[in-house]
Amino acid sequence: MGPMAFEAWVEACLYDPDGGFYAAGGAAGRRGDFITSPEVGPLFGAVVARWLDASWEALGGPSGFTVVEAAAGVGTLARSVRAARPACLEAGRYVMVERCAVLRDAQPTGDGLSSLAGLEDLPPRGGDGLVGVVMANELLDNLAFGLLEAVDGGWYEVLVEVASEGADQPMFQEVTGAAVHPPVDVAPLQGSRMPVQAGARRWVDSALGVLSAGSVLVIDYASTTAALAARPPGEWVRTYRDHQRGGPAVSAPGVQDVTVEVAVDQLPPGADTTTQAAFLRANGIQDLVAEGRRRWAELAGVGDLEALRARSRITEAEALLDPDGLGGFTVLEWRVGS
Ligand SMILES: C[S@@+](CC[C@H](N)C(=O)[O-])C[C@H]1O[C@@H](n2cnc3c(N)ncnc32)[C@H](O)[C@@H]1O
Repeated sequence: MGPMAFEAWVEACLYDPDGGFYAAGGAAGRRGDFITSPEVGPLFGAVVARWLDASWEALGGPSGFTVVEAAAGVGTLARSVRAARPACLEAGRYVMVERCAVLRDAQPTGDGLSSLAGLEDLPPRGGDGLVGVVMANELLDNLAFGLLEAVDGGWYEVLVEVASEGADQPMFQEVTGAAVHPPVDVAPLQGSRMPVQAGARRWVDSALGVLSAGSVLVIDYASTTAALAARPPGEWVRTYRDHQRGGPAVSAPGVQDVTVEVAVDQLPPGADTTTQAAFLRANGIQDLVAEGRRRWAELAGVGDLEALRARSRITEAEALLDPDGLGGFTVLEWRVGS
């Protein structure tokens, strides 16, 4: 094999149908490889349901409101949102979009839910786009990305090549290829690196293209290109496996998740930006926690499932709002047609 672009390497490691991380069963969740906000518990979905209703009301409460959730995984967020019974879905629908067939097969069915492999599979829209939202939690960090390295005053593409044919499988290494224009003008300090997130930009563009009115909402760990270039790349290109950090991105292809902090300045402009903690507070997480406390006080003696769920809201909120963890994630919202 000749050297391949880093982006093609990540694409194969994550999504190759034979042996890519997700095809081989990698997933979010307690029994999976990493914990995401929907997997913390149902509280996240209950707050998202409030945001969905607020978005629907801002559009005048149309029937046929469509919620498209990309990177839906096994449907955990979809289950929590449905359980919260948002008014927007009474005459609306919820479409789970998940690239990986193994995960799609585990998604819930019925109750206004449907499942697709990609945004391009949404039914043709006959000139008018959908009225609703397209949302994605921790998708953009998981889309294949390129890498550039600064050498002698210029930016060069990072490639992956075979270093040696090991006994069982080859070992890989990173090398630099041709000089390229960076996506953002950042001074090429010798040895620094930057990600190239054209795939994330394309995905946001296609999500915006689906809608005639509504919002695209993405939640992810994020930074800017210049800030990333100023940090060691091992901090912002991260690998995960069985709830632990994995090895270098060029080791163990298909066995570990490969992710990157999202450079927001490489995405389409015009988004309102906030933190996850601020977004959850603005959409009533404190009310839901207070309600949980009240129910727990009433039901603690019974100790049934409802009582435990009510109490669990308190610990879920702590994790979701933690400014050094999930609460510090970035929420970007692009509005369409307003
Ligand atoms: C980090 S997981 C996040 C799962 C879930 N949103 C959560 O927060 O728990 C990323 C998911 O995105 C899926 N994915 C990757 N590219 C996709 C695409 N273009 N469209 C839909 N899903 C995609 C992956 O298969 C994987 O299930």
